[in-house]
Amino acid sequence: MDCLKGNNLEELTTKEICLLVKEGDLPSHIAIIMDGNGRWAEKRGLPRLAGHREGIKSVRDAVTLCRELGISALTIYAFSVENWMRPRREVVTLMNLLEEYLQRELKTLLQNEVRFKTIGRIEQLPASVIRWIRNVEEKTEKNDKMTLTLALSYSGRTEITDAVNKIINDYSNGRLKDREITELTFSGYLYTNFLPEPDLLIRTSGEARLSNFLLWEIAYTELYFTGTLWPDFRKRDMLLAILDYQKRERRFGLIKEQVAGKGIKRSRGAQ
Ligand code: IPE
Ligand code: IPE
Ligand code: MG
Repeated sequence: MDCLKGNNLEELTTKEICLLVKEGDLPSHIAIIMDGNGRWAEKRGLPRLAGHREGIKSVRDAVTLCRELGISALTIYAFSVENWMRPRREVVTLMNLLEEYLQRELKTLLQNEVRFKTIGRIEQLPASVIRWIRNVEEKTEKNDKMTLTLALSYSGRTEITDAVNKIINDYSNGRLKDREITELTFSGYLYTNFLPEPDLLIRTSGEARLSNFLLWEIAYTELYFTGTLWPDFRKRDMLLAILDYQKRERRFGLIKEQVAGKGIKRSRGAQ
C-alpha cells in the first residue's frame, strides 16, 4: 500500500482509503457530536425532520464502518440536556425517530454482535422510548464485538454532578470507605464507567465547540472538526477522520522520545 501514500487523497477511492486506514493504529473508541441536521434540511428547503431522518443513515454508516474496522467502541451524542429546550414539536419528532431507530436497528445490532448502551439521564425520556432502550440493551447485552453507546438527555456537567452525588451517597451509607477520591474512583462513578476514554472525537457541521459532551473523558482525546454536515458525513468522511488521527502523535504530557513507537495509551485515570 506504500504506493498509495504519496497520492492526493481526493484521487483515491473509498476502498483504497479504507486499506490505508487498516494499515495504521486504529482508535479503540470514537466519540461523535453529530451536528448539522437542521442546516442540511434548511439548505434544501425541507423541514428539520428531513435532516434528522437523513442523519440516521450516517449513524448506520458510522456503526457499520467501525464494526468492519474492528473499533471496539463508538459513542454518539444524539440528544443533550439542553436540547429539551428546543421547540416542543422538534423534541417530539426526535423522540419518535429515536424509538423508530431502536425498533429498526435491533435486528442489525444482533446480527453484527454489537452491544447497545446509553448514557445520560435516561429517566427523563418518554416511557415508550425507555422501554425500547431497555429492550435493546438487554437483548444485545452479551454481544462483544463492539459497543455502540447513545448519549441521550446527556450533559457532561450533569454527569459530573451526578457522580459527586452518588459518591456522597455511597460514602454516607458506608458503601464507599475511601477518605480520598482518586481519578480512578471518580471515573468509576461516571455514566461512561464501562468504556475506555475516547481516542478520537469528531464534530461535524463546522462548529468548534464541545457543547457539554464528555467533559471529563476527553482530557487527552484527539479532536477532529469538519465542516461537513452530519447527514453528508458518510463512510469516506469517517475514514478521512481516522486517517487524520493516525497522523498525530499523542504525547500525554511526555516528550517525543518517550512516546516514539510505544503506542502509549492513557488509562481512565490516575490512582
Ligand atoms: C444535530 O443536528 C442533531 C441534534 C442536536 C439532535 P441539529 O439539529 O443541531 O442541526 P443544526 O445544528 O441546527 O444544523
Ligand atoms: C450538540 O449539538 C448536541 C448533539 C449533537 C446532540 P447542538 O446543536 O445542540 O449544539 P450547539 O447548540 O450548536 O452548541
Ligand atoms: Mg446543532
